[in-house]
Amino acid sequence: MNQQDDMNLCTDQSIMNNINPVTCLGITFANDADRRAYFTNVLREKLQDSEFCKIGGFPIGSDEDILNLSDPPYYTVCPNPWITEFIAEWEHKPKQFEGHNYHREPFAADVSEGKNDPIYNAHSYHTKVPHKAIMRYLLHYTQPGDIILDGFCGTGMTGVAAQMCGNREEVLSLGYQVKADGAILQEEIGEDGTKVWTSFSRLGERRAILSDLSPAATFIAYNYNRRIDVMAFEKKATHILEQVEKEYGWMYDTLHVDGKTKGKINYIVWSDVFICPECSKEINLWNESVDEIQRCVNDIFSCSQCGAELSKKKMDRAWVTEYDDVIKKTVKVAKQVQTLINYSVGTKRFFKKADEHDIKLYERIKGIKFNTNVPSDLLPDGFNTRQPIASHGVTHAHMFFTRRNLAIISYIRSYIDLTSNIGSTLLFWINAANRNLSRLSKLGTGNYFGGGGGAVNAGVLGTLYLPSFSVESSVIKMMKERLPKLARVMANLGESKNIITTQSSTLLSAPDSSFDYLFIDPPFGSNINYSELNFLWEVWLGPKTNIIEEAIENSIQKKGINEYRQLMTLCFKEAYRLLKPGKWMTVEFSNTKAAVWNSIQTALAEAGFIVANVSMLDKKLGSFKAVTTPTAVKQDLVISAYKPNDGFEERFKQEAQTGEGILDFVRTHLKYLPVIKRHKGLIQFIPERDPRILFDQMVAYHVRKGYTIPISSQEFQFALAQHFIERDGMYFLPDQAAEYDQKKISSGEATQLSIFVYDEASAIQWIRQLIKLKPQTFSDINPQFMQQLGGWSKNESKLDLRELLNQNFLCYDGKVDVPEQIHAYLSTNWKDLRNLLKDDPILRAKAQDRWYLPDPNKAGDLEKLREKALLKEFVEYKQAKKKLKVFRLEAVRTGFKKAWQERDYNTIVTVAEKIPNNVLEEDPKLLMWYDQAITRMGAV
Ligand SMILES: C[S@@+](CC[C@H](N)C(=O)[O-])C[C@H]1O[C@@H](n2cnc3c(N)ncnc32)[C@H](O)[C@@H]1O
Repeated sequence: MNQQDDMNLCTDQSIMNNINPVTCLGITFANDADRRAYFTNVLREKLQDSEFCKIGGFPIGSDEDILNLSDPPYYTVCPNPWITEFIAEWEHKPKQFEGHNYHREPFAADVSEGKNDPIYNAHSYHTKVPHKAIMRYLLHYTQPGDIILDGFCGTGMTGVAAQMCGNREEVLSLGYQVKADGAILQEEIGEDGTKVWTSFSRLGERRAILSDLSPAATFIAYNYNRRIDVMAFEKKATHILEQVEKEYGWMYDTLHVDGKTKGKINYIVWSDVFICPECSKEINLWNESVDEIQRCVNDIFSCSQCGAELSKKKMDRAWVTEYDDVIKKTVKVAKQVQTLINYSVGTKRFFKKADEHDIKLYERIKGIKFNTNVPSDLLPDGFNTRQPIASHGVTHAHMFFTRRNLAIISYIRSYIDLTSNIGSTLLFWINAANRNLSRLSKLGTGNYFGGGGGAVNAGVLGTLYLPSFSVESSVIKMMKERLPKLARVMANLGESKNIITTQSSTLLSAPDSSFDYLFIDPPFGSNINYSELNFLWEVWLGPKTNIIEEAIENSIQKKGINEYRQLMTLCFKEAYRLLKPGKWMTVEFSNTKAAVWNSIQTALAEAGFIVANVSMLDKKLGSFKAVTTPTAVKQDLVISAYKPNDGFEERFKQEAQTGEGILDFVRTHLKYLPVIKRHKGLIQFIPERDPRILFDQMVAYHVRKGYTIPISSQEFQFALAQHFIERDGMYFLPDQAAEYDQKKISSGEATQLSIFVYDEASAIQWIRQLIKLKPQTFSDINPQFMQQLGGWSKNESKLDLRELLNQNFLCYDGKVDVPEQIHAYLSTNWKDLRNLLKDDPILRAKAQDRWYLPDPNKAGDLEKLREKALLKEFVEYKQAKKKLKVFRLEAVRTGFKKAWQERDYNTIVTVAEKIPNNVLEEDPKLLMWYDQAITRMGAV
């Protein structure tokens, strides 16, 4: 067959509706192909500029490959030079609903909502936030026409969400109401406790700029963020499949067990082969370990020749040395053989063992020379890429495929003209199935034996493990099945084009303060090595990820937690520059180590963001719990951070280190915090309004800006009490307090935050909450306290409860009048103690030995005493010659704070180097002092 003739016969030009004039960035073209050709030429010239090619994260690939895959100016497989122009164009358009008094509270929604959506499933990725989840964020924070940035866009779901905010059906599917005028309403609890629908957003598309380091990611994002001629796509794809069937359909022929009837292969299970250590017989793992009667795989089994007891661990692999005509070299690879075949005769499916016909057929296929381009790139050295090399000798990209599937996929690939409008979608269609068509795909023996269907899966996600029972699925069958599903998805995508750039988000060419909202879902430390896993897609695309600025922890890339933090800090600094003042950024953060969590927190603060809320998604309860402790990171978290508005930053420069500067900070910060949080109708405690957390925020802000802290914790709390309004242990602005009071009347009592005790600071917080509700004696507190100590950090010296109480709280001795707090508790909870005066002997007796919270006016003395004791311990740490294994974290924190005030950065660094790395990395406060001290020392 002459492929070229065939392509001409069915050119995209003839079937595409590409005849209407289009206007792009102010230029009108006769049709879209002209638009693309014009901007491709501009980009071609740009690629000659060596400075342009030095931009961080510039992909690895030839100019032609980059130009082929790009669709400029919308999508470039390199830094997109038109971002600024698009932003100017978008900004220029009057926004119908622009609010001058933009005010939003932090928001957190289920980031896994919508995982069954066909859009979500059209192309997999190693981690993905469904567009439906992101839509909730966009509807909360933005208005139609607002400009959004996702700097770690992966598959571009933020762009899809931005389009879908204009799709009435999609918005309704989230459980909102949409009015005829476009107002979007959500259900809330009204002041009288009943449910009411209130307007909170408007229907209309938002505009998105999407950036990712990986060409595989931006390629997927591009295909999710454009409108194509779906009929033309389906027609072309169907035509390709017909050609493949004609040319290569015989490769999936097999014989039914009757030895006569022809069947079509659905998939083949290839089994690893080992050598029996006793008799040297070749062991086909499937044949010898699978018990078809008991329907299970045995871990231990016997050699069918000598009877020796065998297990996978006891045996060496069988290796074959063969000539690889793709790389023109002799290679040594682990032996895998066709073993089990699933095939169809008509509509009926059968299983059989591979027979001689199947073996001969494959030998014939192996003999056919490729006349198409086959990706043969050498695997880059990496954490995941080492796995298939070690286990199966798979050193090059093509080796991830059987010869049959490689021939067919590369044949389809050779049909695709990327410069045509639907070319990219065709490639998307095959790349989406890439992993399932490769040798990574495996037989899930649980489902196979259980008979529940879905026996074949895509292998161990997030890795490049080659399974022992690898599956070769029919390309023709799979692509046929996927086609109508993908066509439906493509038909439902929005009209507008979002802009996509391939580069590192450490530096983006867009003007300062140009985005209304940022949604960020960054890599989480060492969880997933995106560039390594994306390699298998990128070999089919051309350009590859430039890993230099990949924000991950990966020992082979020589990136530890510090390098990760530094890269994330650069990305957040850039995000900070790009966000409009007073606007929000959401950072989605998944389950991982506390050190990575702290790196993200530190990087955020370092960049200038102020965190207003961290919510943990409790999937079991389907609710959000506020989190205050880094060690409690066990689930998906959503961080809401804002960029303070210009007015505040300016004022702070003048007022820093004065009382007014601090009050201004608190006043501004309180405005961004939620006034009320409910769970199951009950009002929740908001930790960000807690005086100690407000103090920590204020300190962090001063330190990052390079100022000394002008006030002690005690003075701060005193100032808070004087200038703001306290409710249930939280601080509010006057109008917020009024709102809180009103809502509380209709909602019932505030529930208390349950604190996880793991160190001295959290223990103090826990006791504070306990005795605030109920002043009690040592013998009452002690058993409750003991129960809390299970999670105590191993490096933190154990503290006696007595010592904690003595240093932080007061005990009523029965000699003077009963303190107000105890009096209030006893007279409300004990009928017979009601209306008794504070000096009544009965009341005094009942109150004696109860611990209570110090009055803010007197608490200062207590704090000074405690600080003295802590500093004494810190001096010991300073003088210690050896590394510190167990110590008091509070003493180190207090010591660091004092050293900072005295500009004694050397002490901070010296003591920091004596404490275990993980403790430093897992404590945001210590990390902050240490980072800052290192920076200052560098600057001296
Ligand atoms: C968690 S994934 C994002 C997934 C995305 N939210 C989705 O729904 O598909 C993180 C992404 O960050 C990208 N990445 C890593 N370092 C980067 C950097 N310096 N700049 C931009 N992107 C980067 C990776 O390629 C990866 O696609």
